[in-house]
Amino acid sequence: MRGIFIVFEGIDGAGKSTQVKMLAEALVRRGCRVEVCRDPGGTKMGERIRKILLDPAESITPPAEALLYAASRAQLAAEVIQPALRRGKVVIGDRFSDSTLAYQGFGRGLPVDLLRRVNKLADGELAPDLTVLLDLPPEMVNERLAGRRDRLEKEAVAFFERVRQGYLTLAGEKPESCLILDARRPLEEIRQQVLGKVENLLGSLCK
Ligand code: TMP
Repeated sequence: MRGIFIVFEGIDGAGKSTQVKMLAEALVRRGCRVEVCRDPGGTKMGERIRKILLDPAESITPPAEALLYAASRAQLAAEVIQPALRRGKVVIGDRFSDSTLAYQGFGRGLPVDLLRRVNKLADGELAPDLTVLLDLPPEMVNERLAGRRDRLEKEAVAFFERVRQGYLTLAGEKPESCLILDARRPLEEIRQQVLGKVENLLGSLCK
């Protein structure tokens, strides 16, 4: 039986990584075989690309940035996600292809249609069964990201506002497979909402 692919998306500081971890723990307790991965990264090559992408000392043009994210994702999809899904695992992704549309498309202003084609090449048209969008007003990014910032976290509030609106637009295109949650709500409340939605998807997968 094919597994299930769940992806968390949202602007920096929305709390994705915490929710990814909490969902993974809940599903393992329930008897699921779980694979957690992050994008960019998740493979040997992808982690090296991630370092370049997040390094504040790098100056990267928007097209180069988009293609580096795509390269990391192509490797992740082929090497980790697809094999795990074939083995019937629940794959939980900390970001995936929508991040490129939101950040490089809506945020940087690259043509979204072109990026959709690049995404197709990279992810082989693999689409999440569920996307959880943790929606956060960009003014709160500063509050949430204390201390040193990586290259993208240094962007201005206006950039994150465009990214946020991009995510909401993308979610509006696929309401049946997208859950939008208010990232300002308590962690436990978000965790319960995610779990409720995921339970419906599991069917007989983890039995
Ligand atoms: P993370 O720290 O949430 O793992 O994400 C790394 C950063 O990369 C984050 O600022 C969002 C950004 N990003 C893009 O700009 N485009 C993409 O395609 C992906 C996957 C992430």
